[in-house]
Amino acid sequence: MRIDILTLFPDMFSGVFSHSILKRAIQKGHLEVQCHDIRDYTLDKHRRVDDYPFGGEAGMVMMIEPIARCIEQLKSERDYDAVIFMSPDGVPFKQTAANRLSMMQNIIILCGHYKGIDERIRDIYVTEEISIGDYVLSGGEIAAMTVVDAVARVIPGVLNDETSALSDSFQDGLLSAPVYTRPADYKGNKVPDVLLSGNERLIRDWKLEQQLERTQKRRPDLLNS
Ligand code: ADE
Repeated sequence: MRIDILTLFPDMFSGVFSHSILKRAIQKGHLEVQCHDIRDYTLDKHRRVDDYPFGGEAGMVMMIEPIARCIEQLKSERDYDAVIFMSPDGVPFKQTAANRLSMMQNIIILCGHYKGIDERIRDIYVTEEISIGDYVLSGGEIAAMTVVDAVARVIPGVLNDETSALSDSFQDGLLSAPVYTRPADYKGNKVPDVLLSGNERLIRDWKLEQQLERTQKRRPDLLNS
């Protein structure tokens, strides 16, 4: 899968892609991520990418031309399955969206800044808008990192059996069961006996019970959806 990220701050991404699972996904060839500096696509001699809004509101608006030029360039090189704009106005991001996007070949993620982007970018190019929560970030970059991470971990082959995404919270609509490791007794705080029993059926039943109990307590909305 290839992800092209359009941003005014490409350097923000370097740390995220050079660690842990994202690093491995890229090294193993499951994922290619290219960041494009929107400023490289302006023809303005001062490299301006924003301007005052028509109608006179506060704040600056990202201009259509540099973004359009970047997207057109990418589209001339390959077909894209989605052009995603990160925005607090978007559809709330869920595991199901991460799974769906992970099946795509090529996607573009556009990160906004300032007051917003010229609406015509949405009209002409954007196929979906994603929000990572009901709060406003300074820009779409951190939101885009969140989406790329969630998508990458469910691309087939990225995780091995041991770290399988199938046991992640939300994959079966439930939160995960608690997990423990050594020591079995930490200052009197013991690991549940069933996990030491070696009885696979009992352990499976216990985990499901814990998932249901935890989901009921913390996220009852998941059980009713
Ligand atoms: N850009 C600014 N805030 C955002 C949010 N909550 N989700 C996605 N992109 C954003």
